[in-house]
Amino acid sequence: MSLNLDDTHHPLHRRWPALRQRLMVRPLLAGPTPVEPLEHQGSKLWVKHDNHTSPLYGGNKVRKLEYILGRAMQLDTQAVWTMGGLGSHHALATAIYAEQLGLDVHVLHFEQPWNDHVRDNLLAISGTQAHLHLLEHHRNTLPLAAAALHARLMARYGARLLPIVAGGSDPWGSLGFVNAGLELAQQVRSGQLPEPARIYVPVGSCGTFAGLWLGCRLAGLGSKVIGVQVSDTVVANVATAAVLIHRTSRLLTRLCPQIPTLTPRPWHLHIERGHFGPAYGAPTRAGAQASQTFEPMGVKLDPTYTAKTAACLLERLQNSPSNGPLLLWNTFSNADLTPWMSQGSVDRLPGAYHPYFKDQD
Ligand SMILES: Cc1ncc(COP(=O)(O)O)c(C=O)c1O
Repeated sequence: MSLNLDDTHHPLHRRWPALRQRLMVRPLLAGPTPVEPLEHQGSKLWVKHDNHTSPLYGGNKVRKLEYILGRAMQLDTQAVWTMGGLGSHHALATAIYAEQLGLDVHVLHFEQPWNDHVRDNLLAISGTQAHLHLLEHHRNTLPLAAAALHARLMARYGARLLPIVAGGSDPWGSLGFVNAGLELAQQVRSGQLPEPARIYVPVGSCGTFAGLWLGCRLAGLGSKVIGVQVSDTVVANVATAAVLIHRTSRLLTRLCPQIPTLTPRPWHLHIERGHFGPAYGAPTRAGAQASQTFEPMGVKLDPTYTAKTAACLLERLQNSPSNGPLLLWNTFSNADLTPWMSQGSVDRLPGAYHPYFKDQD
């Protein structure tokens, strides 16, 4: 199978051309995302603008979906299903981009703290064709609900159903960030920025961090990738990240034996735990301050992921200002959701979702 891929945006395929025959990509990236220097209290820092991965809907999910949907195409998939919190960016991005391929999309939602951003994402996903299923109140029954939905969908689609793990953090999704690591290395080598001493990235379901760690190592960058924990320790931790890095690396070696398999131990990885706050999705004071710091510099952060990550970077900048360039990887899409929100409405959501909107009035 030939990919017919313009690999300007896919340094992973350019570096190892054997992948062209073996690893299909659904091209979604608008191009390498820009890097920009910023000044904060006399110190310089850098931002990698993954908010610009695509003008349609950006952020980190676009990079993951290039490889997940590529795999779906390779497997002749008819339907995908995934899960996430009510305001999940991953679920919304999957609905938007899988639908473009004519795939049926099913989403299992579970509760998360309600705020305007969650509400907007829910209204936006109601404007897609995705079939939505809500798990109410009983988060501890999530595995059972997931198994039941999977069984129902298997009965309908059989082998043409592709489940996508929460957050898209499987080895295929992580490949998007291996590619991103190579993209950054290219920008360093072409003089667009100095080699960062530390790269700060949120850790929700680990795929972004794992892929970036592997991509930086494969690209020969000496940068330390610092994950910032933004979801529960049970999913965001160094052991899970180490396993995912190993699985992603093994997948690459299987596809192209010249690529070495890297197997980091958990203690080789660095995930900062001090910025999580009281719960997933709950804003922190340091995060709110970081948002205020970055906003006038043209960087819009979200409270759940990127604000906490930026707070961690600013803390480092304050404590060790002269320890080499720091880079914030902005994973948040600030694309305008109006096209989907204007097609969506509360009435298009299944009845089980309606009480969330009523409680607001
Ligand atoms: C904006 C944003 N940043 C970061 C993350 C975390 O990425 P990962 O789940 O790969 O750890 C997410 C995940 O949903 C996200 O939506």
